[in-house]
Amino acid sequence: MPERFPASLQQKIEDRLRYYEDLGISLFYMDRGPGSATLVATEPIAPASSSAPVTEETVLPKPTPKPSSAKVAPVAPPSPLVVPPTGPSLFETMDKVKDETLLKIREDLGECTRCKLHKGRNKIVFGDGNPKAQLVFVGEGPGADEDAQGLPFVGRAGKLLTQMIEAMGLQRKDVYICNVVKCRPPENRAPEPDEVAACSPFLMRQIDSIQPKVIVCLGATAAKTILNTTRGISQFRGEWLEWRGYKLMATYHPAYLLRNPPAKADVWKDLQKVMAELGLQLPKKSKS
Ligand code: URA
Repeated sequence: MPERFPASLQQKIEDRLRYYEDLGISLFYMDRGPGSATLVATEPIAPASSSAPVTEETVLPKPTPKPSSAKVAPVAPPSPLVVPPTGPSLFETMDKVKDETLLKIREDLGECTRCKLHKGRNKIVFGDGNPKAQLVFVGEGPGADEDAQGLPFVGRAGKLLTQMIEAMGLQRKDVYICNVVKCRPPENRAPEPDEVAACSPFLMRQIDSIQPKVIVCLGATAAKTILNTTRGISQFRGEWLEWRGYKLMATYHPAYLLRNPPAKADVWKDLQKVMAELGLQLPKKSKS
């Protein structure tokens, strides 16, 4: 089949569409009438950047972790899945494997060549953190820094994720961080279905080995891939979902927050729900 666009233009279009998707605009249609080509967004655009600089300090206050004697906040019953899947999900269908260690799963993965992403990778980014974490973050796929180091979220977006984790009163070593795919997609494009299909059993096994209390999907690609939905992330971001028996929430990707700092306020609201679920508390303001 002939290519419709040169590869570089195709890439630019894909990047732009992904950027819109991060803004919560997932559906476009074109009026193909003579002489007109209108791009229509069918979902509201996230708030525009304010002119005042927004720092992480102002939107991500630093709490102290709750003392071990503190009462765990009451856990709300899980709400029903509000994101109807658009087909059978690879992620839902796999049976749970009992009592596996992350080490065993890493050994089974080996020097993986199951999909085409292995051709361009430097290092497999398996995942990192506490093998018994209560909180797992799932991103999209490694970028250049992660590919070079073999660790997830170590670039600019990763530094912001670390700040977000610390704002929750946790440290990176307390949580587990991984991605939908373990090898860097070329030019940081979104992982393709065959790549997700090859990699997903390992992600499932990792999650089932960790048995977290909460999973947070970072960004539209991770959320939509895992939940198998075409809905825009803005429609279900911050909602508690039930997925494979785990409580799951989707929020914006830190890379999106780097481009759109005002959206940090939304993410912080989401993370506060996660904190409540995990019994983590913000410091009380002293009365003066
Ligand atoms: N973005 C991701 O989705 N994952 C990473 O590991 C790094 C950046």
